Amino acid sequence: MRNFLKEQLGRSAFLLGGSPFRWLNREVQAEVFTPTTIPPAKRGVLRYGVIGSPISHSLSPPMQLAGWQALGIPAEYFRIEIPSGDLEKAVPQLIQAGLAGWNCTLPHKGEMFRLSQIKDSSALEAESVNTVQILNGKIHGSSTDAAGWARAINESWPNSLPPGRVLLLGCGGVGQSIARFLARTGCESLTLVNRDPLRAQRLLRELTPLVAGRFPIRQMDWDPSALRKALKETDLLLHGTSIGLKETDPSPIPEDHLNPPMRIYDTLYRKDLTPLVQAGRKRGCLAIDGLGMLLHQGALSFELWSKKPAPLQPMRAALEQVAGRNL
Ligand SMILES: NC(=O)c1ccc[n+]([C@@H]2O[C@H](COP(=O)([O-])OP(=O)(O)OC[C@H]3O[C@@H](n4cnc5c(N)ncnc54)[C@H](OP(=O)(O)O)[C@@H]3O)[C@@H](O)[C@H]2O)c1
Repeated sequence: MRNFLKEQLGRSAFLLGGSPFRWLNREVQAEVFTPTTIPPAKRGVLRYGVIGSPISHSLSPPMQLAGWQALGIPAEYFRIEIPSGDLEKAVPQLIQAGLAGWNCTLPHKGEMFRLSQIKDSSALEAESVNTVQILNGKIHGSSTDAAGWARAINESWPNSLPPGRVLLLGCGGVGQSIARFLARTGCESLTLVNRDPLRAQRLLRELTPLVAGRFPIRQMDWDPSALRKALKETDLLLHGTSIGLKETDPSPIPEDHLNPPMRIYDTLYRKDLTPLVQAGRKRGCLAIDGLGMLLHQGALSFELWSKKPAPLQPMRAALEQVAGRNL
């Protein structure tokens, strides 16, 4: 059993490439399956995976396999490429291939929510699914994104929740999940900003009744001078756009708008620190990227599947090894 797991872990590490983070540059094609090329199931070996497109850069396999290894439970975890629009056809194939569950990333979280037959409260709140369990033949959907974010921020900055005055830049899937979490758990104030203002306005309309006057919530257009002013009255800048994923991307906010004591949480992660985290730190702000969120959302998925506390240390160590740096 140990050899089998070692082989799995070793294979992932090898396929991810020798030098840290090459996967994020997409230089290395890690082993990727499709729903119909997953190898035959092995007796007594649990199987999970991560579905998305593109998926070759996913760091979830070494992290999840380290968790199963720590519990001494034989398991496989595959990267599975499913193009946008193909999910409905792919789900029965994943079940047929013997997967007991899977993680779900871009672009499938919304569609997976629609396809889940049983949705728990986390999925209903996020209106998205990043963790699937197949239980008695039924598709159960959960979302661990917001709770993973909460664990990550609390770990880096103890007692930082509930946060003070929050400015959320980016109201896409991840931004919405965290905004809904904050609407329920509270903060001092919440300002929603998105490139397409209609998206932020829709979120404002949805959240206003949930907040029910407990704290001020507003939407603001992405206007540089208005943003500069708003950031002066912000305790936590929460970044949820994809600006910064590409190496050539600039910081989404000009460096001179970033001033302590404002803290910065960037949900993005990449081989080096994101442009926003770099810019913030240069200005003396406390700033962290989304690698910790990746760990904790994955650990929560692991707990749903295993019904046991996630072995966080080995999972963290596996992630740090492929990342080439500490979280
Ligand atoms: N750390 C983790 O564990 C974790 C988990 C989930 C996601 N994430 C990260 O979060 C990022 C967003 O994911 P998502 O699921 O929210 O994606 P999404 O639903 O596609 O949303 C993308 C967001 O980025 C904005 N955006 C994209 N390009 C932009 C540009 N050039 N200028 C301004 N805004 C731009 C979009 O604005 P519009 O609405 O105007 O298009 C939208 O707000 C991903 O890149 C992912 O790496 C991290």
